[in-house]
Amino acid sequence: MTVPDSRFAEALTEIAPLLRCQSCFRGPLSVAPDGLACSSCAYEFPLVDGILDMSGAGPRLDDVGDKPYEGRWASFYDWLMSRPSRQRLDAGLLGLDVSRYYAEMPARLGALGDGPTLEVPCGNVPFLDHAEAYRRNGPWIFVDLSWALLRRLTARLAERGLRRHLAVRADVRSLPVLDGRMRNVVSMFGLHCFHDKATVFAEFRRCLRPEGSVVASTLTTDGHAISRFYHRLSQSDGTFAPDNSAADVCSAARGHGFRIGDELRLGSAYVFGAGVAHDAG
Ligand SMILES: C[S@@+](CC[C@H](N)C(=O)[O-])C[C@H]1O[C@@H](n2cnc3c(N)ncnc32)[C@H](O)[C@@H]1O
Ligand SMILES: [Zn+2]
Repeated sequence: MTVPDSRFAEALTEIAPLLRCQSCFRGPLSVAPDGLACSSCAYEFPLVDGILDMSGAGPRLDDVGDKPYEGRWASFYDWLMSRPSRQRLDAGLLGLDVSRYYAEMPARLGALGDGPTLEVPCGNVPFLDHAEAYRRNGPWIFVDLSWALLRRLTARLAERGLRRHLAVRADVRSLPVLDGRMRNVVSMFGLHCFHDKATVFAEFRRCLRPEGSVVASTLTTDGHAISRFYHRLSQSDGTFAPDNSAADVCSAARGHGFRIGDELRLGSAYVFGAGVAHDAG
């Protein structure tokens, strides 16, 4: 078998059988000289700078207004989210207790069952150095649309020798994962950016195994006056979606067969877990 780059051979080989073709929606994919290829329609998904680009195939999704982070905003966000001490800079705006958030999320990631885990949107994976789950469990499939943040992530994975995990460029509204293959879905601080939450939860549900778990955090419109003002400002240019109360998020999740649990409010941030509601059919 030919592998495009030996640094990514382990991840590609383990993850290829979990992925679907974004062109014909069949799978599994197989390792090809320049990335992965579909055995059914022969579409090839290239590995670009260590990032598997799966965004170029498939149906054109209606432009609902999601804004992948690129350019200066991506550099600033990467800088802000690479240390908890820096995230404290916007804690006042969000009404967020950063220490509590950095205790809570690794604990929740640590409680997940071992198995293939999809993290979307991954950004630069802010908890990479704070959660043992990234070293113990996996493989992790990290999905985002931002070239800038995925490049940063690829460098961080290489620096830490985490060769089992893969950065994949794809839209959350059409995840390149075969039905029912993920043990877990992790989504941190992304739901408030997603303008079509119904499709996002439908995709999470499709990708998850029946016993699968979701760990999520999101910003909401439910915080104090300053954070509500900041949220409205971010909504006005489309960076944040309009339907961002915790009730909106839960209703989208329940609408796609999830039951919500382990809820925690940290200022305007809402942290929750979700599992498949088997009684909901
Ligand atoms: C607020 S950041 C959160 C990143 C990371 N999870 C964190 O906690 O810092 C939102 C991310 O969503 C990504 N994004 C926006 N729209 C997207 C879409 N339709 N599909 C995948 N990622 C998207 C952006 O590129 C950005 O990295
Ligand atoms: Zn195909």
